[in-house]
Amino acid sequence: MVDSIYIGLMTGTSADSLDCAAVNFSKKEMNIIGLKNYDIPNALRQKIQESSQALELNQSLIKDLDIKLGNFFSESIKDLIKTLSLDKNQVSGIGSHGQTIKHEPNAENPYSMQIGDPQLISNNLGIKTVGRFRDDDILAGGQGAPISPVFHREVFAQTGEKRLIVNIGGITNISVISDQEIMGFDTGPGNCLMDTWCRKNLKGDFDDEGNWAKSGEVNKTLLDFMIDDNYFKKEHPKSTGPDYFNESWLLNCINEVDQDLNANDVQATLAELTALSLSMSLNEIEDVSEKVYFCGGGTHNLHLLKRINLKIKKTCLTTQELGIDPDYLEAICFAWLAKQRLDDRKFDMQNITGSKKAVYLGRVFLPAI
Ligand SMILES: Nc1ncnc2c1ncn2[C@@H]1O[C@H](COP(=O)(O)OP(=O)(O)O)[C@@H](O)[C@H]1O
Ligand SMILES: [Mg+2]
Repeated sequence: MVDSIYIGLMTGTSADSLDCAAVNFSKKEMNIIGLKNYDIPNALRQKIQESSQALELNQSLIKDLDIKLGNFFSESIKDLIKTLSLDKNQVSGIGSHGQTIKHEPNAENPYSMQIGDPQLISNNLGIKTVGRFRDDDILAGGQGAPISPVFHREVFAQTGEKRLIVNIGGITNISVISDQEIMGFDTGPGNCLMDTWCRKNLKGDFDDEGNWAKSGEVNKTLLDFMIDDNYFKKEHPKSTGPDYFNESWLLNCINEVDQDLNANDVQATLAELTALSLSMSLNEIEDVSEKVYFCGGGTHNLHLLKRINLKIKKTCLTTQELGIDPDYLEAICFAWLAKQRLDDRKFDMQNITGSKKAVYLGRVFLPAI
């Protein structure tokens, strides 16, 4: 049988690292050939984080980052191909999500901006590259996010069961899937506020296993103020990003509450906010399975998972139980999406992003030089 190998790249809103997956779709069951994670060079990561929190974008800085990231993605793919002893001619396509800098689905002229130029990747490698996955969904009236629920249904839907998949990245998104139905949205922050607070308090890039949050106490006044944000009251379709739930959002909440707060109590409260906003959304969904499958970096935050578990009273598992590594599910998803795009498949995203027409997810960049 002829190989049908695609490489998927994901750099989520956390900007923690690049996840890469090489997947062979030649058989009915997809075959994961290799998974690898690449650290984003420090200087690049810092500039990405600054840009995604900035109120005004600096156009020349963004362009510079777009090229640097495009080159970094290309080098990572070359390394992956080499590590797996593949020949680049065996790779049918690349799906590169890109690094989100701004997500503005509700602006007068809505857009979602990902950088890491897909044309550059295509040119550097001589492999068809699919990128800008969110643009046409937004043009069709959708939020442009989340898009992974279509993949969740493809690989996880089970006849007669309504399954819940929860991805805790920078932002948390959920998918409700059955063979009949598909629905999904962003419930609010995942790790993004906790990561920001860690960095601000020189505790590292994230709260390892949630131990810092565990050492603090939830401040009820702050939690009540934060959960009162309009985002949590909106009906789906809805999507958000760390350009909204960011340091200035958090400092504004702390300021409004006007109490003396210990840094670890703030961290405990942020973990609680992620758990509470997710559980409020999950508890509203009817007739779902007693199991919830988690993926994303948040699955390593044991304190957070415990808080979620207490609130949703369901069996919490990871997607590993369903055969997919929770740390690489999204990278695998973008390999699959690249194949769907190059196979000319459109998706009905109405119940996920709210788009009005069936759309292609992703634009194709053919090698130009
Ligand atoms: N050992 C850990 N303990 C707590 N949190 C972790 C751990 N490992 C990863 N994370 C969290 O997961 C995040 C990365 O998750 P990821 O799914 O890659 O998100 P994104 O899709 O936004 O890049 C990190 O920024 C961190 O907050
Ligand atoms: Mg990540």
